[in-house]
Amino acid sequence: MSDDSRPSPAQSRTAAVIPAAGRGVRLGPGAPKALRTLNGTPMLVHAVRALAASRAVSLVIVVAPPDGTAEVKSLLDAHALPDRTDFVVVPGGESRQESVKLGLDALPPDYGVVLVHDAARPLVPVDTVDAVIEAVRAGAVAVVPGLPLADTVKEVEPAAAPGDPEPVVATPARSRLRAVQTPQGFDRQTLLRAHETVGDDVTDDASMVEQLGERVVVVPGHEEAFKVTRPLDLVLAEAVLARRRLNVGF
Ligand code: CTP
Ligand code: MG
Repeated sequence: MSDDSRPSPAQSRTAAVIPAAGRGVRLGPGAPKALRTLNGTPMLVHAVRALAASRAVSLVIVVAPPDGTAEVKSLLDAHALPDRTDFVVVPGGESRQESVKLGLDALPPDYGVVLVHDAARPLVPVDTVDAVIEAVRAGAVAVVPGLPLADTVKEVEPAAAPGDPEPVVATPARSRLRAVQTPQGFDRQTLLRAHETVGDDVTDDASMVEQLGERVVVVPGHEEAFKVTRPLDLVLAEAVLARRRLNVGF
């Protein structure tokens, strides 16, 4: 296909890749993090529903723990998703970036907008998903949701031994910092090029696009898009779900 015949992001369809292959070491012993439950429903199912809630998303590619692909498939079969949304399950890799790449390998050609969303952010509101998609459709090649920081951040010279005092190198102005979340949204070609050419020593997909020299923009994130990382985050996530139930009046 020539560049001219490729659909522009504004016209083309949107797929979401959900890396869910991590072990969740910081969460402590138990099932892989994405399969741990929040109010009885696996985190991954919450995350897939959160993305499928956007009318623009017509395909969800779930990157499962390599030994859990069949289990993830049957989970998604058992939990109803909107009819307009297809899903595919592929096995993941050793690192998050490898897992995302394996998800991108399963992307059909007719999707021009791609979201990458952590399964570990199961409660992202649909308005945040839609805001990211809108910004890509409006012409940005890479869009990340982000929030201002509550804490001041120090750059340090990391200590040789854990617990040793660490010299401060710099204090970036907090007002210029954003803590970034997912879903991160991309023009398909730009994201594929980033994954083909940039090394994988990164913690998010947008930084790979930055390394290409392309412009990345931040749109407002949401506090409910936080990442479930440590045990206390499970408590917070279940509290958010309880608050949502109250708010809808059931
Ligand atoms: N991830 C993945 N494949 C990996 C590692 C991580 O698909 N090899 C996914 C996780 O499942 C998660 C997302 O990347 O949805 C963000 O990673 P993180 O929060 O670090 O999850 P884990 O790596 O599972 O947690 P930990 O680092 O505590 O082990
Ligand atoms: Mg990790």
